[in-house]
Amino acid sequence: MDGHMCAELMDWTDVLAFGELQDGAITPVSIGDKALVLYREGDEVRAFDGKCPHKGAPMEQGVACKTRHGDVQLVCPWHKASFSAETGRLIEPPALDPLARYPVELHDGRVLVGKVAIKREAPAPMRQHEVIAIVGAGAAAIAASVTLREEGFAGRILLIGPESDLPYDRTALSKMTLANADPEATPPALRPESWYQDHRIERVIDRVVSLDTETRTVTLEQGEPVTPDHILLASGSRARGLDLPGSTLEGVHTLRSAGDVRAIAASVSETTSVVVIGSGFIGMEAAACLRKRGAGVTVVSKTELPFEKQLGREIGTEMRSLHEGKGVAFIPSCSVKTINGADRVQSVTLEDGSEITADLVIAGIGAEPALDYLSAYARADDGGIEVDETMCFAPHIYAAGDIASVDHEGKRYRIEHWRTAQIQARIATRAMLGLPASTLSTPWFWTQQYDRKIEYLGWPAPFDHVEIDGDARSFDFTAHYVDESGKTLALAAAGRPKEMCKAAVTFDDA
Ligand SMILES: Cc1cc2nc3c(=O)[nH]c(=O)nc-3n(C[C@H](O)[C@H](O)[C@H](O)COP(=O)(O)OP(=O)(O)OC[C@H]3O[C@@H](n4cnc5c(N)ncnc54)[C@H](O)[C@@H]3O)c2cc1C
Ligand code: FES
Repeated sequence: MDGHMCAELMDWTDVLAFGELQDGAITPVSIGDKALVLYREGDEVRAFDGKCPHKGAPMEQGVACKTRHGDVQLVCPWHKASFSAETGRLIEPPALDPLARYPVELHDGRVLVGKVAIKREAPAPMRQHEVIAIVGAGAAAIAASVTLREEGFAGRILLIGPESDLPYDRTALSKMTLANADPEATPPALRPESWYQDHRIERVIDRVVSLDTETRTVTLEQGEPVTPDHILLASGSRARGLDLPGSTLEGVHTLRSAGDVRAIAASVSETTSVVVIGSGFIGMEAAACLRKRGAGVTVVSKTELPFEKQLGREIGTEMRSLHEGKGVAFIPSCSVKTINGADRVQSVTLEDGSEITADLVIAGIGAEPALDYLSAYARADDGGIEVDETMCFAPHIYAAGDIASVDHEGKRYRIEHWRTAQIQARIATRAMLGLPASTLSTPWFWTQQYDRKIEYLGWPAPFDHVEIDGDARSFDFTAHYVDESGKTLALAAAGRPKEMCKAAVTFDDA
């Protein structure tokens, strides 16, 4: 070995013998404290960061999965972000960044990994003189901003949204932020403030009040109108409000934004009695957070079981037992008739006339697309706006996320999931730049209640029956939602991250 080679090898770490690597599998290794994963394909070995750039999941617990096009993706176990097993390039969010790749050398049957990640080539700058406006600053909007810069868009990006908080992880609101005893707790920011400056993303704290789709004029509540070259509409949903006597009393809340959580959290203590109206995902996640904070929680639900419609009777039963075991009082098959109090809520009256004390009421009764600025424009039956397969809605105007009504096998779907919103945003922005856009993958979402996580994959449709592999009671199962012809329409699972990783890539091929 000459002196030059020796110096070079000092930057490499011998991590294991090539013979220890299984072909087509992910193997964890480390360099000092740094966790890495190796992926072997035939004689070739690639090394990647061992932690997902989204929230740090251990990539070794994910899978390497071959797509129907023959390429291999590394899929994150927690929220199903996927990355190219060749380059680490981001393929599917909710990660917003690629998986860092490290150089690998094979030497005398040993695998050597370089200490410094391989630098990615900056894309050639394009369209310096164009302006893109993004209406909204949530899941889809941030994924769009990241994608535009990742692809080399060099023009202006206006990110328009009314919330002054740095764009944040909305899914954390009802899982972590509300459970935090600090009433000023904020959900995790999707990007730090410096990122917006470094990437020249102009945050416009304002609300869009109208859009002229012919002239592409975006009218703002406070600022001057803008007429960008392209527009991405990503205004999401707003929480459906209650239409009941007393629903405007102080202490009655919906849960959609960081501001909503601050308002709720400010009046929660161990002596607070909370009534949650509705047993959907947000209501039940909120119930779990509030129990963690010691508040008394009663859920009033029109249905007998939570999530029965989406997840079936057996899992609905377990979810209800889970909550009841944590001290939640569940009042099934019932609705609230009035909310009572002078200025502030004091109780609710149920339809059978009984009254429950309430210091706080949280309405978790669903959401509707936030599209007031397009009131003159026809909506799809699902309340969204119809887009084509590139998420295009009108010339140079695209839509992504909760407001977008997409076609899948001849049916329209409006999906309210974080990951899908970001995937749609990537499709839309790539199409906007004239780049080839991928097809929309099967919707996936998760819910976390106490220490239980359920994942769901599929295009929502009524099912005939549920086949459960495993044990729903111990939250170790995969449920297949099957139609009359025996076709699996969707999957739900708990404690089966690898199985769901694989399904996230291959489900549509079945
Ligand atoms: C509490 C909570 C928990 C959730 N948990 C999960 C989960 O666990 N898993 C999951 O898959 N999904 C979850 N969801 C759903 C998920 O957050 C949404 O599907 C996703 O955020 C949709 O992305 P979006 O970009 O369409 O809209 P959003 O992320 O809602 O962003 C919309 C943006 O548009 C802005 N806006 C609205 N109107 C205007 C206007 N007129 N002008 C300008 N800006 C406007 C809003 O202020 C916001 O910034 C949760 C939702 C909530 C509320
Ligand atoms: S931690 Fe990997 S996708 Fe969330």
